Amino acid sequence: GRQMIYLKNAQQIECMRKAGELLYDVLCRLREAIKPGMSTAELDVYAEQLIRKHKAIPSFLDYNGYPASICTSINEEVVHGIPSDRVILKDGDVLSVDCGLILDGWQSDSAFTVGVGNVSPENQKLINVTEECFFKGVRKALNGNHLGDIGHAIQTYAESFGYGVIRELTGHGIGRNMHEEPSVPNFGREGHGVKLRPGMTLAIEPMIAKGDYHVAELEDGWTVVTEDSSVCSHYEHTIVINENGLPELLSYPGFALTEEEE
Ligand code: MF3
Ligand code: CO
Repeated sequence: GRQMIYLKNAQQIECMRKAGELLYDVLCRLREAIKPGMSTAELDVYAEQLIRKHKAIPSFLDYNGYPASICTSINEEVVHGIPSDRVILKDGDVLSVDCGLILDGWQSDSAFTVGVGNVSPENQKLINVTEECFFKGVRKALNGNHLGDIGHAIQTYAESFGYGVIRELTGHGIGRNMHEEPSVPNFGREGHGVKLRPGMTLAIEPMIAKGDYHVAELEDGWTVVTEDSSVCSHYEHTIVINENGLPELLSYPGFALTEEEE
C-alpha cells in the first residue's frame, strides 16, 4: 500500500542526532545504576530526572496512557513492562530497558538488555546474539536496499541459534513522532518491501526469544510476554541512512560500523 515516509534533511537529522546523543547518555547512566535489590520504579524515576534535566521530554510517559518514562521487561517479558516499586531486580534476571525522549521536537528511541548481577551463560548468549542481530540488520540499511533485507539478516542470524524472532512487534520510522511509517519487521525476504533512501530515519529493534516467537499481553494492558515463557532479549537504536547512503546510529554517538568479517 501507499505509505507516507518522511525523509529528513540535514538540519532535521542534526536535531535527531542531538536527541540521540542525549538518549545515549541517559541509557548509559541507567545501565550503570542497575543492581540487584533495586526496584524498576527507581530506574524509571532516575530516567525521568535525567531527561528533564536536559530540557527534554520523556516520550513514553502518557503515550496511549503508558504510565512511565521507560519500559522494564524482565526474563519472559518481551517489551512494555511497567516499572514498579514492587518489582525488585534480582541476581540473574535478564532486564530490557527501553527509553525514548523528545528534544526540540525530535524523537529518539533506544533499548538494551543486560544481565542483573551474574547471568547464566545461556542467557548472556541470548543477549549477545540479539545485539548482533541488530548490527546484522543495520548493516543492510543502505540506500537502494529494501526493508526486507534488514529483517532477513536479523531473522537468519537469530534462527541459526534456534531462537524465535518476535513478529507481532516491529521497529518503525521515527522523527517528529515516535512511530512513523514504515514498520520495520525483524523478519522478511531479501529484496522485498520499501526501498531504503537517504534521509530515512528508523528505529530498528530486534526482540528475540530463546524459544517460540508467539507472544501474549498481560492483564495490565501493556506487558508483552512470550507464550512459552522463554526468556527474551531486546536491542534498539534510532538510525539514519545518511547522504552517502550509509547507516549512522543516532542513538549510539561515535559508533562506527565496520565491514563484516565472513
Ligand atoms: N520502543 C518502544 C516502541 O518502539 C517504546 C514504546 S513504549 C510506550 O514501541 F510505552 F511508549 F508505548
Ligand atoms: Co521503538
